[in-house]
Amino acid sequence: MCGIIGYTGKAQAAPKLLLCLKRLEYRGYDSAGIAVLCEDNFSVYKRKGRVDELEGAKALSGTTGIGHTRWATHGEPSEKNAHPHLYGRYAVVHNGIIENYRQLKEECEARGERFTSETDSEVIAHLLDFYDEGDVLTALRKTCARLIGSYALAVMRRDRADALYAARRKSPLIVGRGNDGLYVASDVPAIAECGELYSLADGEFALLQQDTIKFFREEGEIGKEQMKLTSRAEFPDKGGYAHYMWKEMCEIPAAIAHSIINFDSDPRFSAFNIVLCHTKYVQIVACGTAYHSGIAAKYLIERAARIPVEVTVASEYRYGDPIIREGTLTLAVSQSGETADTLAAAQLAKERGATVVAVTNAPDSSITRIAHFVLLTQAGREIAVAATKSFNAQLALLYSFGTALAAQQGKTADRSALLSLPALAEQTLSRVEKLKMTAPFYAQARSVYFIGRGADYCAALEGSLKLKEISYLPSEGYPAGELKHGTLALVDEGTPVVAILTQRAVAEKTMNAVSEVYARGGKVLLITSFPEYTARKEVSVSILLPACEELYSPILSVIPLQALAYYTALARGNDPDKPRNLAKSVTVE
Ligand code: G6P
Repeated sequence: MCGIIGYTGKAQAAPKLLLCLKRLEYRGYDSAGIAVLCEDNFSVYKRKGRVDELEGAKALSGTTGIGHTRWATHGEPSEKNAHPHLYGRYAVVHNGIIENYRQLKEECEARGERFTSETDSEVIAHLLDFYDEGDVLTALRKTCARLIGSYALAVMRRDRADALYAARRKSPLIVGRGNDGLYVASDVPAIAECGELYSLADGEFALLQQDTIKFFREEGEIGKEQMKLTSRAEFPDKGGYAHYMWKEMCEIPAAIAHSIINFDSDPRFSAFNIVLCHTKYVQIVACGTAYHSGIAAKYLIERAARIPVEVTVASEYRYGDPIIREGTLTLAVSQSGETADTLAAAQLAKERGATVVAVTNAPDSSITRIAHFVLLTQAGREIAVAATKSFNAQLALLYSFGTALAAQQGKTADRSALLSLPALAEQTLSRVEKLKMTAPFYAQARSVYFIGRGADYCAALEGSLKLKEISYLPSEGYPAGELKHGTLALVDEGTPVVAILTQRAVAEKTMNAVSEVYARGGKVLLITSFPEYTARKEVSVSILLPACEELYSPILSVIPLQALAYYTALARGNDPDKPRNLAKSVTVE
C-alpha cells in the first residue's frame, strides 16, 4: 500500500514529484524514493523514513520522473526495498500487491536475472524488460497479463525521456494534465492543480508523451471522459497547533455541524428518500474507526427506525457470502474513500443487488465511483493518521441518516437533539485538559481496558483503538458485561480501566463492573454524563460530559478518549500524527 506519482513535461520533475509525494504520504511513510530520467539514464534517490528525507533529491535533473511513498508489505522498510525499482531498461513504481510474485521471480531467476530487493514489485521491472521487443505498450500489456493481484503502475523506459506509461488493476490511478505537464497519481488531491483529470479503470493503460495523453485497453486505443470533480482539494497546515491531531480535535464541533444533513427538507435527497422508504435491511461495511461509527449507527437505527442493521468489518464481508435481500441498503463508510477492503465490500454488495451508499469525507474518491448514492461528511481534510474529527462527522451524518430512515418508515424521530451536538462537543472539549495530568500514569501502564454498554460499547472500542494506534499500549474495548468473562483476570493493582457511562437504563450495571475492577485494585477513569457517579469511591478520575440524548452520546464521549490517547502518546514520546507501521488509508488488502 503506497502512493505513486509520475510527471513528464517541460519543468524539472524532482520538485514536483516531492510536492505530490508529500500529499500522498497518508498512504504510507516508511520509505520513499524518486527516479528521474536524464540523457537516457535514471537518477535515483531513495531513503528509509518519510518523504522529508528526500530533500536531497530536489537537485536531480530531468523532466520526466516517477516517485513513491511506501507502506511495507513485502520486505522491511529500507532503502533497498524502497521504490522505484529498476531493471534493464525500466524503472517502476507500484501500489498494490502482486500475489504470484514468488513464481514470477523464480522464472526470472531461472533466466539468470538478479533481484536487489525483497519486494513483490521488483518483478514488474524484470518482466517489462523481458517482454520488451521494441514497443513499451506491448511489453506493459504482456507484463500485466502475468500479474495476479492488484496494481497501479507508473513506468519509465530509459531511452524515452519524454514518456510515462501507466496501468491499473484494483488500485486507483488518476491521470492529469496541468499547465506545466502531464501527471499520474494515486489520487486526485495529489495533483489538485491539474485542470483535466481522468480516472483509469481496471485493465486500462495510459501513455503520457509530450503534450498527449492516450488511453488503451487490451483491444486498442479508447476514448475517455474527463472526471467531473465535485470539489477542489485542500491542504491544511497545522495552524499554530503542535500536532494535526489536536488541531483536528478542535475542529470537531464544526465537523459535526457541517455533517448533519436534513434529508427531509433538502431537495437534493428526494430520490434518496424514496430509497429510504423501501429500505427493509441495513448493512454497514467499514474498517477501523469507520467500523466503530457503524456500530454506533446500529444502536441508533435499530432503536429509531426498528430496521435490522448488520455491521461487518469490510475485509470479512468481501470474502464472506453476504445475503442481500430485497430492500437491502449497504452503507460503505470510509473517511478516505480509498480503503481497499471497503471498496471491495461495496462492489460485492452492489453486484449482489444492494443499494450502495458511500459515506465518505473525500469527494471524488474511489468509493464515490462505486456507490449508487454518496453522502459526504464535511469534516475537512484530516491529516493525522488517527481519525478524530472524521469519526465525529461520520456519527453526525449517520445519526441524521438514522432519523431520516425512521421518519421515512413512519416512526417518530426527533431531530432537534442533533442540532445541539456541535455546542455540546465544544463544551466537552473544554473539559478534557485534566487528562493531561493522568497521561503519565497511562504512559507506564502494561495494558488498558475500555468498557461500556450499549452505545457506550462503541465508544469503548474507539477509545481503545485510538490509544493503541498512537501510544502503542496494548488495549482492548469490551461490553462492560463481558469483563467478568475473562478480561477481569488481567486486572490487578493499578491496572487502568476506562469506563464509559451515558446510558441511564444500564448505568448501575456498568457501575457493577467498575466495582469489580476497584475490588481488584484497578484504577478507573469514568467518562459519564451523570454527575452522581463522579464522586464514587471506585472512581479515580472522572470527566463529566454535558447532558445529551443518550443514543447520540458516543459523539461526545469519544472526545475525552481521543484526548487521553493524544496525551498518552506525548507522554511516551510518540509522534501522534504519524504512528509507526500505520497509514491514513489502507489501499491494499
Ligand atoms: C486505517 C487508518 C484508520 C482508519 C481505517 C479506515 O487503518 O489508520 O484510522 O479508520 O484505515 O479508513 P477509512 O479511510 O476507510 O475510513
